[in-house]
Amino acid sequence: MKKTKTTDFRYNTGATAVPWAAVGENYNARDLMAIIRFLMQGEGKEYDDAIAAVWEQVQKLDAVATPPGKLSLGSQVEAAEAACNDYLGTDTSTFVTNATAGFEIAYKYANLKAGDEVIVPAITFVATMAYPLAIGCKLVFADVDPKTINMDPADVAKKITPNTKMIVPVHIGGYPVDMDPIMELARKHDILVLEDAAHAFGAMYKGKKVGTIGDFAAFSMHEVKNITSFGEGGILTTTVPGFGDDMKRARFLGLDFSCPIKDWLYNITPIQGKFGPFVPGNSSTTEIQGLGLKLQVERNEEIIEIRRKAAAYLTERFAENDAIIPQDLGGEDVKPTFHLYLLQIDPAKAGGDIQVLKKKLEQKGVTQIAHFGPLYRFKIVKDILGLDEDEIAKTCPVCEEVFYKRFTHLPLYGLSDEQLKYMADAVLESVAEMQAGK
Ligand SMILES: Cc1ncc(COP(=O)(O)O)c(C=O)c1O
Repeated sequence: MKKTKTTDFRYNTGATAVPWAAVGENYNARDLMAIIRFLMQGEGKEYDDAIAAVWEQVQKLDAVATPPGKLSLGSQVEAAEAACNDYLGTDTSTFVTNATAGFEIAYKYANLKAGDEVIVPAITFVATMAYPLAIGCKLVFADVDPKTINMDPADVAKKITPNTKMIVPVHIGGYPVDMDPIMELARKHDILVLEDAAHAFGAMYKGKKVGTIGDFAAFSMHEVKNITSFGEGGILTTTVPGFGDDMKRARFLGLDFSCPIKDWLYNITPIQGKFGPFVPGNSSTTEIQGLGLKLQVERNEEIIEIRRKAAAYLTERFAENDAIIPQDLGGEDVKPTFHLYLLQIDPAKAGGDIQVLKKKLEQKGVTQIAHFGPLYRFKIVKDILGLDEDEIAKTCPVCEEVFYKRFTHLPLYGLSDEQLKYMADAVLESVAEMQAGK
């Protein structure tokens, strides 16, 4: 590669004899080949021949190419954010290391402190509650809607107290939470809403993109999600007026280049939260991740459509047996991303509960995901907050019923037609066996 180094915006020394380059050590041709081999794996003669041909061309390219001037927070990250803005209809998309890091910025904006209450749904992933748990907030678990397993707004209403600082609806599996009543409650009680939209990039609720309704939202681009940015990534958005620019600074330790202090390159100015300033961390993302995200955002609609068709197929097949409660496919007001397929059964009609069905599916080689469950059952909730799981369980009866008796998640993407059919057959056969007492 040419030895040219470009300067970093942080140390912008311009066209000079000895610039301060942003990138300490560039990747070379050998590194690039290792990356190609990692992203496109294979073996055998045909593969080895193709790799040898690519290596030859990469060496030629290396002789004439210039390395990128930046590897972190540059034009690719900006382009990914612009693509997300276009797609979501916002101007605040901030690309962070993952959704969990995005949540942290939103939680810090709320100036949460020990003892404050945060309402989360009983069923979600631990990431939703990691920050409030870490700083000693009291987590309050809202019961779930039996149809969607999302947070039930009616139960949220019952659990709001003068200490409630945040409500965190989670669009589980990409199915939008009923946001109107949640926002109404939040506005009435002056509570901030953080949407955990980890599964829901592209979902719609009443004509609006999910993630643009609450005060904050974070999407996950972790490898298992519908789209990814090379394995990790998150997009944070806000509707808090004027906070978008500060949110970008909150991603990188509060560095402020707009008003450098004397004899210095920058300043560190406070990030203003709802009740006072807060100290941000570092959740910067790389240019390669930015590039990867932009490419995948461009095909998000296509990906959702493939998943929607797969879900529609399963829902249609499951109509055969009324013991199966198939995933709701949405309609005008609700358009899910179909990240996961929510399979439920009516235990009375099925002649057994979901645990029996899960075992049968396992025996037939069908993956189903017991990943999302009652968070209050985790040891950490008891040990850190001193909360009694059985006491909380009494306040979340629907969660207990659906998790232990009624639901599991089926995968939707990357499946061939044969696999999809096999999965539908396996579910139908298993339920029929249960009904026949086998
Ligand atoms: C419901 C939910 N919230 C949050 C997260 C965290 O996302 P990330 O891994 O990007 O931090 C996940 C990840 O799986 C999730 O399932």
